[in-house]
Amino acid sequence: MNRDYLNPKLSATERTEILLSQMTIEEKVGQLMQISVATTVEVKDGNETYFEYGVRSDDEIKEWVQGKFVGSLLHCIGDQVSKIQEMALSTRLGIPILFGIDAIHGHGLHNGATIFPTQLGASCSWNKKLVEQMGRVTAKEVVADGLHWTFSPVLCIGRDLRWGRINETFGEDPFLIGELGAAIIKGYQGRDLSDSDSILACAKHYIAYGESIGGRDAYESPVSIRRIKDIFLKPFKRAVDAGCATFMTSYQSIDGVPATVNKTVLKDLLRDELGFKGFLVTDWDNVDALIKNQSVAHDIDEASRLALEAGNDMIMNSPAFYDACIKLVKSGLIDEEIIDNAVRNVLNIKFSMGLFEKARQYKPNTSVFSCDEHLKTNLELTRESIVLLENKNDILPLSNKINKIAVIGPNADDIYAQYGDWTYFSHPTPKKHVIPKRPYYTMLEGIKEVAKAHKVDVSYHYGCDVMDPQKEAISEALDCAQDADVIVAVVGDCVAQNGEFKDRANLSLSGAQQRLLEELKSLNKPLIVVLVNGKPLAIPWIKENADAVLETFNSGMMGGKVVGEILFGETNPSGKLSISFPYDSCQLPVYYNNYLGWHGKKYIDMPSESLYHFGYGLSYTTFKYECFSLSHAVCNADDTITAYVDVTNIGMMDGSEIVQLYVRDLVSSVMTPVKQLKGFEKVELKVGETKTVAIDVPIKELAIVNPQGEYVVEPGTFEIMIGPDSRDEVLLKAKFKVV
Ligand code: BGC
Repeated sequence: MNRDYLNPKLSATERTEILLSQMTIEEKVGQLMQISVATTVEVKDGNETYFEYGVRSDDEIKEWVQGKFVGSLLHCIGDQVSKIQEMALSTRLGIPILFGIDAIHGHGLHNGATIFPTQLGASCSWNKKLVEQMGRVTAKEVVADGLHWTFSPVLCIGRDLRWGRINETFGEDPFLIGELGAAIIKGYQGRDLSDSDSILACAKHYIAYGESIGGRDAYESPVSIRRIKDIFLKPFKRAVDAGCATFMTSYQSIDGVPATVNKTVLKDLLRDELGFKGFLVTDWDNVDALIKNQSVAHDIDEASRLALEAGNDMIMNSPAFYDACIKLVKSGLIDEEIIDNAVRNVLNIKFSMGLFEKARQYKPNTSVFSCDEHLKTNLELTRESIVLLENKNDILPLSNKINKIAVIGPNADDIYAQYGDWTYFSHPTPKKHVIPKRPYYTMLEGIKEVAKAHKVDVSYHYGCDVMDPQKEAISEALDCAQDADVIVAVVGDCVAQNGEFKDRANLSLSGAQQRLLEELKSLNKPLIVVLVNGKPLAIPWIKENADAVLETFNSGMMGGKVVGEILFGETNPSGKLSISFPYDSCQLPVYYNNYLGWHGKKYIDMPSESLYHFGYGLSYTTFKYECFSLSHAVCNADDTITAYVDVTNIGMMDGSEIVQLYVRDLVSSVMTPVKQLKGFEKVELKVGETKTVAIDVPIKELAIVNPQGEYVVEPGTFEIMIGPDSRDEVLLKAKFKVV
């Protein structure tokens, strides 16, 4: 046997070819398999039934590792990782296993690791540097656990808010998603994949997954390829350009063709057009689903053939694929070259990331979990992620004359709701018996800590359940609030209302929360609402009636501390919404980058625009925009135009502003959105300070996808708009021509 593939001095391509040439068909197909180490076990606890992670038996794992040469395992943490890796290294070829994990907002499936705000929360910071650092910290903690690959980031576009997975997105805008996606990929993968603290990123779910009809998860997205190229492909292109090593397919079908067997998107777009060089993994059981859920294949042989021919390289947790694939090759129904190419893609990444060396050197050491440095990064990101939606009569920051705050509401002291989806207690189903490890601050804990320093008392009552309208104690909550100077009501949603299988038709406050708020309002005290929720809810009453509103989404470990700081003015909020809020779910979608249309674009019984707009967020200070100018009046397609604007902090507190630049193509051969974000810049400004912000827009970024499916920059007039959010009335405007 030629063992030169173990020589790190050779290139990844050379090592791949040396190894591939010696592999049996069983060893090759094994490399295409990804099997879950965790299984789900039903647990009954009194009246409650939940699903717990179980673990496959040792024999089963041994069979996969040593009998079938499995290439990758997922959802394995702790001591088991090293034991299984040892087994793999002792096989004939000693190919290490690539361990994958859903480290979605931090290495959340391991209790004790740093939990960051969700992608949706983090996206409201619009801070690429901090999002990159979130990726870096996550990578270090994943590596510490002996794992190599995170199934993150989600680059789906969050447009239908009923969809259960909105919390996993970076919001609704392709440009912002692309920028933040590229940043976190850079954070995960580090300077070089082979660095000891780099992990593989995985751009998912490819593609148009969030566009499923009615916000129904894993269903049908009725979009054309032109539209995919125009909208949904953009963040994935950024991921390829950022060197993202892996992509994951999506569950749904696209114009009837399941994404996993969709050659146009997997081959023509991903490989040929975007030039993706990494490997493509299916989503969970996607191959079986072609038979069971999508009815496009009669049996596993047909399903496996379709998946291979469409260009998938690794098959996630469809165990029957193994035998089927070997049979297909042996009976000549599939060309072995297709298998070889897939194996090549997988091995090439294994060699490029130095897996053969890393797996042999790994020593477990999880002391970095939630270490001071990681918590500091988390705190900085959380400070920038929270959005101040209302602040009537400058009620916030709280005056130093108050003596007592009543913190009321079901999400005030609930770390489970605050963490949201993809943590050790949200998967496979929500369970409350798992005790989260410290450190963390619930909203109540954070408010109490800061209030104490300001010599302000805090009383607390949970008020009601988030979901069950019968479970309420509103009169006790009112008693608790009776002698307070200010009420902070913490409401929203919970883990059981977000995630896969958890689409919602009704986005109003659930349970008795609305009644709780109305009763609290009747006490005639200042009412500050803190929202702890996975995604935008329909909250017109809150907008109308609350004196202040803070949107925190799922803010992770540091959420409570930051809310305390914001209430008392120790932190000036600077987050802006990456997603629009509706008045009601029957109004959806309400995203900002919609089309002009005619007939007034209105419902006769409800506004058509959003309740809170994309890009919107208040500060304790005020920013003035003036002296807007453009570098060019006329450009050609190769130019870059620069927009300049002076931004001054004219308020009473230092603060940060997210300056946003939108573009509209005034006349084009296809309909284009009323405006599209094409640049942004976050600036810190001291009181009285002015900065000139310059934002570049390469003209090629203004290309449309014409009716023939080609990218073209059409000559004509464009409008550039710059300002604090996406509303027309707050944007400065100027035109230029492309010739
Ligand atoms: C989800 C993916 C996830 C995978 C592995 C699937 O159900 O759609 O996002 O990465 O499971 O846990």
